[in-house]
Amino acid sequence: MDRKTIGIIVGSLRRESYCRKVALRLSELLADAFDTTLLTGGDLPLYNQDSDDDGTPPPQWTAFRDKVAAFDGVLFVTPEYNRSVPAVLKNALDVASRPPARNAWSGKPGGIVSVSPGRLGAFGANNHLRQSAACLNIAVMPTPEGYFGGASDFLGESGAVTDEHTAASLKRYAAAYAAWVKRFTD
Ligand SMILES: Cc1cc2nc3c(=O)[nH]c(=O)nc-3n(C[C@H](O)[C@H](O)[C@H](O)COP(=O)(O)O)c2cc1C
Repeated sequence: MDRKTIGIIVGSLRRESYCRKVALRLSELLADAFDTTLLTGGDLPLYNQDSDDDGTPPPQWTAFRDKVAAFDGVLFVTPEYNRSVPAVLKNALDVASRPPARNAWSGKPGGIVSVSPGRLGAFGANNHLRQSAACLNIAVMPTPEGYFGGASDFLGESGAVTDEHTAASLKRYAAAYAAWVKRFTD
């Protein structure tokens, strides 16, 4: 049987991004069950409906839409910018949601993990993303919720998760998400 695939969408372009480090750890934890691909949408021109209406979508949009459509599941790992998701992630959501009849996110089992150096675990971004995901018909795993605060403390220099409690929480999250995806794909 073909191995199922998960797109891990990272909402940060920062070189030393905490989210990227957490996404890499989640990718390792999911590797037994799935093939995973990390992507950011950082190369996507800002969404402008004229390009779709004119039949001239930028090639980056088309490539991204095709990639998203091919995944069996999508897992978001996002920071919080001003109590919401960063523009790069919102743009990626918008690009792959259009044209509406070909919403590439639709029906996919989703996971949402939010990461912050502060204590709140990017709660605002996580919940704004849940709202968009509902509109996009992404079947987001209801629980466990993935709030990971204190990233500057639980990630070591090399990007490894050094705190036992967080390492265990990530493991539990990945196992639950793997089971959630299997409910849709097996
Ligand atoms: C424009 C901007 C807005 C931010 N707003 C928030 C915020 O609302 N809540 C928060 O916890 N951190 C906020 N931060 C701090 C981010 O959590 C921090 O930059 C974090 O490192 C971003 O994630 P990354 O390491 O994956 O890039 C903000 C940072 C930027 C650049």
